[in-house]
Amino acid sequence: MSRAHDDERLAGAYEHGNEMPEESLRAWVALIASHVRRPSPSIVEIGAGTGVFSAAMARWIKGSEVVAVDASEAMLAEVRRHHPHPAVRYLPGEAEALPTGSDAFDLALLSRVIHHIPDRTRAARELVRVLRVGGRALVRTTFRERLDAVVYDHWPRLRAVDERRFPSEEEVVADFASAGLTLETVTSFAQPVAANLHEYHARLTGRPQSKFTHLTDEEFHRGLDQLDAAARDEALHTPRPVLERYDVAVFSRPLFRPFSRP
Ligand SMILES: C[S@@+](CC[C@H](N)C(=O)[O-])C[C@H]1O[C@@H](n2cnc3c(N)ncnc32)[C@H](O)[C@@H]1O
Repeated sequence: MSRAHDDERLAGAYEHGNEMPEESLRAWVALIASHVRRPSPSIVEIGAGTGVFSAAMARWIKGSEVVAVDASEAMLAEVRRHHPHPAVRYLPGEAEALPTGSDAFDLALLSRVIHHIPDRTRAARELVRVLRVGGRALVRTTFRERLDAVVYDHWPRLRAVDERRFPSEEEVVADFASAGLTLETVTSFAQPVAANLHEYHARLTGRPQSKFTHLTDEEFHRGLDQLDAAARDEALHTPRPVLERYDVAVFSRPLFRPFSRP
């Protein structure tokens, strides 16, 4: 497994560097909520990071109770600092061995974590175990074949790095299907993550994502200078929102479990 997030520096920088406009976060929560079948749902977020989604779901999905699981103690410490919420319980644990009971959740969210999980089939079996009948698992990522982000314009080597790190849609669907999960839908869309390049540049100065650990300091700063120059140039013309592409794959739990607990 990637242990990049155990790095306290990265965990500290993650929150500021990955903020998104409230409007975008609300739109995400509305999309997640559209896959919830019961009132007052029970939700687990796996790889919750600093807890942005867990807290937002607790806030905006009426009556929800959220369990936020993360493998990194450093990230969990940030969660408690930035996103405490009475309806969110934060637990240390891994996707492949969730620290929760069976038949417990109506929805599982895996946001930007699927590429960190080395044994996806085992993680999928855990989803089958912890979801209730009718429960759904929602994977938010960018599949390898649709990688598309402004960072690749300024750090071209990151594209190759991400092509190695991110799984394809076909790989994830096959691994999840082998555990008994059924694919419901895959949607793909670009979404604003910053108002303009200047704001985007300011976010990235803290090197807030694990992908940047694959670059030397010199490479990182060269790309950052380039991005700064592009932001200054854009400010002279018409600043535009920075978009990033996301894919959302939704799976449902089978009526009967094909596997017993590992
Ligand atoms: C890129 S962050 C995503 C955080 C948050 N879900 C979001 O979308 O902003 C990935 C998180 O997954 C955690 N993680 C990595 N591998 C994991 C695993 N096998 N099980 C649980 N968490 C894991 C990391 O510690 C990190 O906090």
